[in-house]
Amino acid sequence: MDSPAMPASSPLKLGVLVSGTGSNLQAILDAISAGTLDAQVKVVISNRPGVEALERARKAGVEAVTISHKEFVDRTAFDHAVLRALQKAEVNWIALAGFMRVLTPDFLAAYPGRIINIHPSLLPAFPGMHAQKQAFEYGVKLTGCTVHFVDHGVDSGRIIAQRAVPREDSDDLAALAARIHAAEHALFVEVLREIARGRVLPFTAE
Ligand code: GRF
Repeated sequence: MDSPAMPASSPLKLGVLVSGTGSNLQAILDAISAGTLDAQVKVVISNRPGVEALERARKAGVEAVTISHKEFVDRTAFDHAVLRALQKAEVNWIALAGFMRVLTPDFLAAYPGRIINIHPSLLPAFPGMHAQKQAFEYGVKLTGCTVHFVDHGVDSGRIIAQRAVPREDSDDLAALAARIHAAEHALFVEVLREIARGRVLPFTAE
């Protein structure tokens, strides 16, 4: 990360997909408004209505859209509706920030190598929905967070960056989860900064 910054081929225009609180979204919005991340969030899309992430987007003047997965016959139909909203907003990268749905092959093909996710463990340990709890109950002394490219699996795509987080002896689950969450906010923004600078490029398996 010491090499001089290269200009990205085009400005980073993000679509952020959320399902809940949106503290990672907030970290991205804050970095943009502080001038430390050269990007635009063009649209925030939630599959759940009324979540805090949508309110955070609106407060930052970003278009906030709800597309409920419950209103579609299947995953493909839902994904196509989300894709239409992303394409209308002319995004060129997609960040999953607490988005609790697995994407279909059609969706992945529409933005090849340009979809990233943040996960609250050091993958490949503890993929899935309950990573912090599983790491805590297992008794690991070191856990953390991972930003990775999204593929067809659950938290299985190529790793871009990781941040280790120690578990202190006095931690309960909430304390450990809060420390991981804070690390996520920093790491997600750092990776997006590298994408904006053209130092992380779209990933294709070939
Ligand atoms: C984060 O822990 C993220 O790693 C996981 O979902 C959580 C979202 O948190 N995928 P927030 O909505 O960004 O606060």
